[in-house]
Amino acid sequence: MTDTSTLLTQLSALLGPRGLLTDAASLEPHLADWRALYRGATPCVVRPGSTAELAAAVKLCAAAGVPLVPQGGNTSMVGGATPDESGRQVVVSLARLNRVRDIDPMDMTMTCEAGVILKAAQDAAAAADCLFPLSLGAEGSATIGGVLSTNAGGNTTVRYGNARELMLGLEVVLPDGQVWNGLRRLRKDNTGYALRHLFVGAEGTLGFITAAVLRLFPRARESAVAFCAVRDEDAALALFRRFRDRDETAVRAFEYLSGEGVGFALKHIEGCLNPLAGRHDHYVLVDLASSRPEAGLRGLLEAVLEQAMDAGEVLDAALAESEAQKAAIWRIREEHPEAQKREGASVKNDVSVPVSKVPELIRRSSEACRALIPGVRPVPFGHLGDGNIHMNLEQPPDMDPAAFLARSHDIMDTVNAVVRDLGGSFSAEHGIGRLKTDMMEDWRGGPELALMQAIKAAVDPAGLMNPGKVLP
Ligand code: FAD
Ligand code: MLT
Ligand code: ZN
Repeated sequence: MTDTSTLLTQLSALLGPRGLLTDAASLEPHLADWRALYRGATPCVVRPGSTAELAAAVKLCAAAGVPLVPQGGNTSMVGGATPDESGRQVVVSLARLNRVRDIDPMDMTMTCEAGVILKAAQDAAAAADCLFPLSLGAEGSATIGGVLSTNAGGNTTVRYGNARELMLGLEVVLPDGQVWNGLRRLRKDNTGYALRHLFVGAEGTLGFITAAVLRLFPRARESAVAFCAVRDEDAALALFRRFRDRDETAVRAFEYLSGEGVGFALKHIEGCLNPLAGRHDHYVLVDLASSRPEAGLRGLLEAVLEQAMDAGEVLDAALAESEAQKAAIWRIREEHPEAQKREGASVKNDVSVPVSKVPELIRRSSEACRALIPGVRPVPFGHLGDGNIHMNLEQPPDMDPAAFLARSHDIMDTVNAVVRDLGGSFSAEHGIGRLKTDMMEDWRGGPELALMQAIKAAVDPAGLMNPGKVLP
């Protein structure tokens, strides 16, 4: 087997100085995750400039028996893109595979390489008068390869689905260095097992996504945004139903926010202003959009809110009057993860339940966590329209952050007990990564996990792709 210094010499000859980082300062940003839960080590970061270069590098690493950790924007919430502490795992950054290869407004498809930043993909679609709808707080850093590998959801899932639903074809470098070109841009293609879907959500454990054919949509020609204070969680759900029943296709995003979370955003994020006169315990951000230029969304928004106010569900509402006001309202929502980070230590629970159970999820898990750790501050927020609430917990103000984080697993277990009772999932959109592997046996054990392990063994028999992630 090749030793590490021989492998580095081979990789250096293959990739050149732009394609291989070895000095400590260059490695640094690749070693820890966004939440600072993990800090690993790596002998080098491989940065291939093409699919062929990646394939050749993977062949060298496979021959040397060296494990590989794919990394996109490194915004994983579950430590999925971080190498372990052994110092043996090689980080492979897809950042230089950043070309939009093709946009076709007739087929409504776009072919992007894995390292294209999500925001750049949205902008490229917009420049072709189309919409690539995937949208999330980390879109300025997250990559197409990363969002597909985690099957990311985000703010527009309620209307357009998760990343999986936005993908038609893939190009993949397999763990032995073979390239599979599945970049078909077909709406119908029933030709055996849908292999492309194996790699979506696999979190880099089956191979490298190097490019993808993505679905495009007509761009929005009208939109309307409101920030509403609602009576309680039930009122938030009732308001969602009112909009959905009136015009399901108009609802682009429907996000729940708690008084605590909005308070953190107003406190910590420079320039964040309260759109309403006072403070409330529960809020909803509703975003309507249509590709029809005269869709009458403002009228729809006003009519539904008026009905909901008459019913006592909505207590107050601010309707955005300009694009700047829409952005300001969205900022309060999108800065939630950052504001929570600045407030102190927090434990995240990215969970989902049937939409109808969201109020019960929020109430019961908040109560159970308060009983577990007196003074803990529940900060539930997120994608109510998908039944996906970030049931996050902020440390009590006077508690030592390390002592609070030491209770992470107790807190997750407490929330997950409620989630299980409500027929939900312990991971809605962030994936498993390293953080939740120990929950897999309990939640997915039996034939489901056995099948996953069989697939892993078939595709990556040497176990070199992102070891220690997803599977226990
Ligand atoms: P990375 O973090 O680099 O990697 C994620 C996983 O994919 C890792 O397991 C990695 O090994 C693997 N991977 C990366 N690239 C490839 C590739 N080309 N081939 C194979 N495997 C690969 N997620 C949501 O779903 N919805 C949200 O609303 C949301 N909001 C977020 C807000 C913030 C502020 C942050 C920091 C994160 C948020 N996330 C959200 C987490 C989310 O998982 C990521 O933002 C995104 O999906 C990851 O993209 P990335 O390029 O950063 O991937
Ligand atoms: C978001 O929707 O902002 C993130 O997925 C949630 C989080 O930070 O927990
Ligand atoms: Zn989210």
